[in-house]
Amino acid sequence: MQTIHDRAALTAHLGRFRAAGETIALVPTMGALHGGHMALVAEAKKRATRVVVSIFVNPKQFGPNEDFDAYPRRAEADAAKLGAAGVDILWMPGVDEMYPTGFATNIRVDGLPDRLCGAARPGHFDGVATVVAKLFNQVRPDLAIFGEKDWQQLAIIRRMAADLDMDIEVVGFPTQREADGLALSSRNAYLTAEERAAATALPRALGHAARAIEGGEDIAKTLSSIAPALVNAGFASVDYVALVDAETLVPIEKLTRPGRLLAAARMGKARLIDNLPVRPAV
Ligand code: PAF
Repeated sequence: MQTIHDRAALTAHLGRFRAAGETIALVPTMGALHGGHMALVAEAKKRATRVVVSIFVNPKQFGPNEDFDAYPRRAEADAAKLGAAGVDILWMPGVDEMYPTGFATNIRVDGLPDRLCGAARPGHFDGVATVVAKLFNQVRPDLAIFGEKDWQQLAIIRRMAADLDMDIEVVGFPTQREADGLALSSRNAYLTAEERAAATALPRALGHAARAIEGGEDIAKTLSSIAPALVNAGFASVDYVALVDAETLVPIEKLTRPGRLLAAARMGKARLIDNLPVRPAV
């Protein structure tokens, strides 16, 4: 595996792959790699002949009071994992490479970022869209793979790639979970042992609610029971719980189309997100 920090070297390497007729998959990450990321890498290897993983903790997607400084950075351990997994290129630009002096462009997808995580994190998804557009232009992959754990992010990236004719297949890959159901996340590292044990209430509450709604229970009533259950289990607060159209993210009151049940809740120093499909009866 080649670890590359500057764009000229990246372009030269990728040019050799393309000249040889290879296909390129990109897995964008912010590092602190866990089994969820490694599942994306394994999927990338199935779908393309060359795999590029980017690690860049993107300052533009963190708010002023968020965890940019505290975000786990484990470059050496990450590189060892990616090398062992057969990744071809680890692309690790510095902040000056990504946002040189004078950088002035912001990519904003309208509508989709306004609710759910976007409501509590103003500007977050502009930061994500801007950096992902740059990564797409830098690597020019045939496809890029993102985890479904951040369902809203995936919907926004799909919209941006389609709207801007990027000709990159955006692939969503199912959330990977611990044995007790907790979604793998770099932010789980913020949890104490006690918080970690209590955090399993999030997937449990979403699972119960998803099955209840699929079984015909009243949607509003079911949704309103989730936040109290989470607080009861030890979450400090709940940012949102919502049942939305899986594609447009518009809240739904009747289950006539595939829905997605999403929640974000705070436990100790961590803000945890999760989501599950809710399928209409056939
Ligand atoms: O999901 C993430 O890790 C980040 O939001 C991404 C897509 C790598 C952009 O910085």
